[in-house]
Amino acid sequence: MSRELTVVVLAAGGGTRMRSKTMKVLHPVGGRSMIGHVLKAVEAVEPRRIVAVVGHQRETVGAHIQALVPDVVLAVQEEQRGTGHAVRVAMDALAAEGTTGTVIVATGDTPLLRGESLRAFAAEHEAAQRAVSVLSAIVADPFGYGRILRDHEGDVEAIIEEKDATIDQREIAEINSGILAFDAEFLIEALPRIGNDNAKGEYYLTDLVQLARDAGLTVGAHAIDDPWQTEGANDREELAQLGAELNRRIVGQWMRDGVTVMDPATTWIDADVVLAQDVTILPGTQLLGATVVAEDAVIGPDTTLKDCEVGAGARVVRTQAELAVIGAEATVGPFSYLRPGTQLGARGKIGGFVETKNAVIGDDAKVPHLSYVGDAEIGEGTNIGAGTIFANYDGVAKHRTTVGRHARTGSHNTFVAPIAIGDGAATGAGTVVRRDVPPGALAVSSGPQRHLEGWAQRKRAGTAQAAAAASAVAAAEAAAQQAGDVAEDSSQDRGPDLG
Ligand code: UD1
Ligand code: CA
Repeated sequence: MSRELTVVVLAAGGGTRMRSKTMKVLHPVGGRSMIGHVLKAVEAVEPRRIVAVVGHQRETVGAHIQALVPDVVLAVQEEQRGTGHAVRVAMDALAAEGTTGTVIVATGDTPLLRGESLRAFAAEHEAAQRAVSVLSAIVADPFGYGRILRDHEGDVEAIIEEKDATIDQREIAEINSGILAFDAEFLIEALPRIGNDNAKGEYYLTDLVQLARDAGLTVGAHAIDDPWQTEGANDREELAQLGAELNRRIVGQWMRDGVTVMDPATTWIDADVVLAQDVTILPGTQLLGATVVAEDAVIGPDTTLKDCEVGAGARVVRTQAELAVIGAEATVGPFSYLRPGTQLGARGKIGGFVETKNAVIGDDAKVPHLSYVGDAEIGEGTNIGAGTIFANYDGVAKHRTTVGRHARTGSHNTFVAPIAIGDGAATGAGTVVRRDVPPGALAVSSGPQRHLEGWAQRKRAGTAQAAAAASAVAAAEAAAQQAGDVAEDSSQDRGPDLG
């Protein structure tokens, strides 16, 4: 960038059409707030200063912006008196340090905006040595926008707002996107000269076009070839439309970068997700937040991963996971629920109907079926039996369980934490482990099995259960009787031989 660059982002308006307690620019789309996308694009052009104008819910919006851009200058517009007034508040906030070069004004609600577009716009503005440049757009339905008025030579004369426009002017399809560039010196000098004698009684930033023309300065407008980038969301329907288009673009880019996406229409990928080459994504999959997937991993179908790390060649099927790390060549699912703090080692397995939380599961370790693993560490090569519950909560506090390396635990166990099961240990089916198990020991906790004969016939008399039991017992007795007769016969037959 040849000249010093300052960017003003407008975010003081209420956004009432969202009908939300959350400010419009804070609504998320593609894993970031709307203004988060705009600030990313703005940061990409490396301006000397970014000024954000805040008003409605200024504490919340201001804190959000500061978290994303720590050296932002926040300018507070107490009352929303128009875009011209908002920019004046921004320039006042910079008065002490002074501003030269180019000032770009953008709005906080255009999530598809790209840094390259801002860069090209600033470069064109500077090359043409203009006082004012307007990034315009040709749209099918210009209702509500400021229209670009051009003279017979095609030069920009003014911007006329919807409410101030004549019927003829309303036919104009070229609109003001809301992104403008100014020569700083002209901007600072002319802002106080904007009046509010118009249909809305507001100070229109767009009046600067006419003021520059009147001063004999150069003004220009250039229609962006990708109008989605300057499209703002005013209500939730528009938010969903922008979200779908943003996703279409993100998914498209990943496919061009070597990711297989079986069904782009049902695949949702947030802006900050990172995928390696030859990842495969099956239908109904959402990759959210800061999720990173290594090469050859296959994700889906019907899987949601938020802030997860998936290793190379891993397989994740019908899974819900957040803040989980899945090792290389590991398998997860179907129907698994990985909660924060889950770390599955290389070639490990978290199988069907298994829930995990704060669980470090070693390389080649397996929790294959129907289990809950919470606050636990499982050593490498260990196998946890089907239907095991890590009972981590005593009703007051959470406790940890450790299972050593190459252990084999039986089906339907309960590990009552805090507890440790040693390396190479084993447990029998149905064991309730309440004391530490030494390395190599087999733990069993259930007593010998006892039978109360005829219980169903006595206690459930008259039921199908009792009838079934009675007939089975009768059949067994008959069979035993017959076997006894046969034995008697054969012993008689053998009598002479023995004699
Ligand atoms: C504005 C433009 C219009 C353009 C349209 C593009 C003006 C006068 N009109 O109209 O030419 O086609 O954007 O979307 O500039 N804001 C403040 N403080 C204020 C007023 C607005 O921060 O006092 C912020 C809003 O939060 C919003 C942006 O500026 O992000 C645009 O304001 P809005 O009232 O929506 O202007 P439009 O009528 O849409
Ligand atoms: Ca608007």
